[in-house]
Amino acid sequence: MNTIHLACVVGARPNFMKMAPLLRTLQAYPQVNPILIHTGQHYDHNLSDVFFQELGMKRPDIHLEVGSGKHGQQTARVLERFEETLEQGAPGGGAYDRVVVVGDVNSTMAATIAAVKLGVPVAHVEAGLRSFDRTMPEEINRLLTDAICDMLLVSEPSGLENLRREGRPEECLHLVGNVMIDTLRWLLPKAQARDTLDRLELQPKSYVVVTLHRPSNVDQPETLGPLLEVLCEIAADMPVVFPVHPRTAQRIERFGLADRLAACPGLRQLPPMGYLDFLALTSQARAIVTDSGGLQEESTALEIPCLTARFNTERPITVEQGTSTLVGNDPEKLRGGLRSILQGTYKQGKCPELWDGQAAERVATILAGKDGNR
Ligand code: UD1
Repeated sequence: MNTIHLACVVGARPNFMKMAPLLRTLQAYPQVNPILIHTGQHYDHNLSDVFFQELGMKRPDIHLEVGSGKHGQQTARVLERFEETLEQGAPGGGAYDRVVVVGDVNSTMAATIAAVKLGVPVAHVEAGLRSFDRTMPEEINRLLTDAICDMLLVSEPSGLENLRREGRPEECLHLVGNVMIDTLRWLLPKAQARDTLDRLELQPKSYVVVTLHRPSNVDQPETLGPLLEVLCEIAADMPVVFPVHPRTAQRIERFGLADRLAACPGLRQLPPMGYLDFLALTSQARAIVTDSGGLQEESTALEIPCLTARFNTERPITVEQGTSTLVGNDPEKLRGGLRSILQGTYKQGKCPELWDGQAAERVATILAGKDGNR
């Protein structure tokens, strides 16, 4: 039996919950040897290590330690270091047969380019999503990654349509469902058994969870300021819990908004949270306000109303079938959405097909099959 050496690449927070179920599932495939490679794009304990512990992931076999930087710098560091890693071959001997990347962060794109140039085929988990907004760094990462991968593993039907329109051959496309929701379904009971709400003195269904970190929302004071004002307003009626991403924390400080936020009764700023505490919080919330792609999907799977602070989404199924509504960065729309949630007139969503906790199993079958060989 020939061993299939897989280089499984993660870099930033949203990657970990997508790779974890895949690594767990692959344990049942003795012919597959998954090597876990962390680029180090995220390095803070709260954005990285805590997820490895809580998601039961092995420590990375290889760490590239690229850290933060401008897009070009960060991408270039991954390209250079990952190319070297691939050239060195798998620990214990043998050339890499395939690279597996997930999501749409800079590490995803950079690892793909390095691999394809060396002739190592790449599987992209969460392929085909398109916001059609090329000002988003993630959209560029998605387009470039999908253009050169040969195995495109898709989470929702819009992804298949996009890839077909872009001319990707049918034999490369696989609708597998959502691996991140595998992690959610696996860990939901454990998360809800925690004392997270008690510690934060919150009652189920009586608080709003907020996350904001996209450059389009947080990088300009004239956008971030009014969004934070609405959150302050809501917090007068219902507690608002706001775990603050480091990027957003820096902007709040730099734009002189920290005192205003601190003076806002009912609004609780917290450091970024681990997976379990955060899932405990989101799964029992009355509403979620976010610009995160992952949280749009998680709220749909949890059937919790989600007001998405974006003008577009690469995950249209969360709006068409799920619980999400796009409110842009318009305080009026955000206010209106929240009012409708509090009055009980907000739409009901349903969980998309194949977001059933079995997506990693489908991916593993494809990776381990004849497609998994070079
Ligand atoms: C990245 C992804 C984004 C994803 C997000 C999830 C890209 C282009 N963006 O955005 O798609 O939704 O992760 O969090 O890949 N920082 C820390 N500690 C860390 C890492 C970063 O403090 O461990 C700070 C640094 O100042 C850094 C800034 O956050 O410059 C931004 O980090 P970066 O990885 O470039 O992008 P994110 O905004 O986190």
